Amino acid sequence: MNYRHAFHAGNFADLAKHAALTVLLDRMTRIAGPLTVIDTHAGAGAYDLTGDMARRSGEAEAGIVRLMGAGDAPEAFEVLIAATARINEGAGVRLYPGSPMLIAASLRPGDRLIACELRPDDHAHLANLMGERAEILQADGFAIAPARIPGKTPVLIHIDPPYERGDDYRRCVQAAAEAVAKNSAACVMIWLPLKDLETFDRFLRDLETSVRRPVLIAETRLRPLDDPLKMNGCALAILSPPAGIEGPVGEICRWIAHNLGQNGGEARVWNL
Ligand SMILES: C[S@@+](CC[C@H](N)C(=O)[O-])C[C@H]1O[C@@H](n2cnc3c(N)ncnc32)[C@H](O)[C@@H]1O
Repeated sequence: MNYRHAFHAGNFADLAKHAALTVLLDRMTRIAGPLTVIDTHAGAGAYDLTGDMARRSGEAEAGIVRLMGAGDAPEAFEVLIAATARINEGAGVRLYPGSPMLIAASLRPGDRLIACELRPDDHAHLANLMGERAEILQADGFAIAPARIPGKTPVLIHIDPPYERGDDYRRCVQAAAEAVAKNSAACVMIWLPLKDLETFDRFLRDLETSVRRPVLIAETRLRPLDDPLKMNGCALAILSPPAGIEGPVGEICRWIAHNLGQNGGEARVWNL
C-alpha cells in the first residue's frame, strides 16, 4: 500500500467528492430515523497542505486554494467551504478536512459513522483526530461495509479506494451489490478516477448488471479521456440517490470543470 492521500488532499477530485458528499448528507439527515454512514476508505481525516507531500504535488493549490479564493462558487460548495474555513480557524488554507471529518460534522445525535483505514499511520492519525465521534477500524472497508450495514435503517456508504489494485473497480461494484442485497434502500457513493473511456465503460457495465438500482453518474472531466496514465477527471456513481441532488451535484461538477479544467473542461450528470 504505497498510496498516501496527503499528496492529493484538496485537489479537484476531492472537491467533487467532498462537496457531493455534503449534499448527500444534507438530504439524508432530513430522513427520519438514525443514519449510519460507512466510510470504507477513510484516510487520515485531515491533511496539512504545508507538509512535504502536499507541497510536492501542488494539487491543493489547483483545487481547494482556488475554491476558497473564488467569489463565484455555487451554494453546493457552502458546507465544504465552511468546514475548510473552520479547520483553519478562518485564516488561510493550511489544513484540509477529509471525508470522515466532513461526515461527522453533518451527523445528528443518534447517527453513527464507521470509518475504515488500513494504513497504520493514517489509521492512528484518524483515530486520534476523531476520538469518540466515530468508530474507527483498521480493517478492510470492502469487507466491513457489507458486514456492518444495518438491514432496515437509512444508510450511506462512501467507497473511495486508491485504485492501486487492478481489481479495485470490481471490488467497488461487488461491495455496492452486497450492500444493497442487505439493505435495498442503501445509498452508495463510489468515487473513481477518469483516465480512459474503456476502463470507465467497463466499470459502468459491471455496475449496471450487478446492482439493479437507479444510479446517478456525475462526471468532471478536466481534459479529454485519452491518456490512461493520467487522471483526466473523476466520476461519482451514486446508487439510490436522494431526490433532487442532480441540480447541486451538477453545479459542483460544472464549476470544477470550467474553473479548473483545460479549455473549460466538461461536466456531465446523467442516469445510468
Ligand atoms: C483515496 S484515500 C481516502 C480519502 C478519504 N476518503 C477522503 O476523502 O478524505 C484511500 C485510503 O484508503 C486506504 N486503503 C487502501 N485499501 C484499503 C482497504 N481495503 N480498506 C480500508 N482502507 C484502505 C488507503 O491507505 C488510503 O488512505
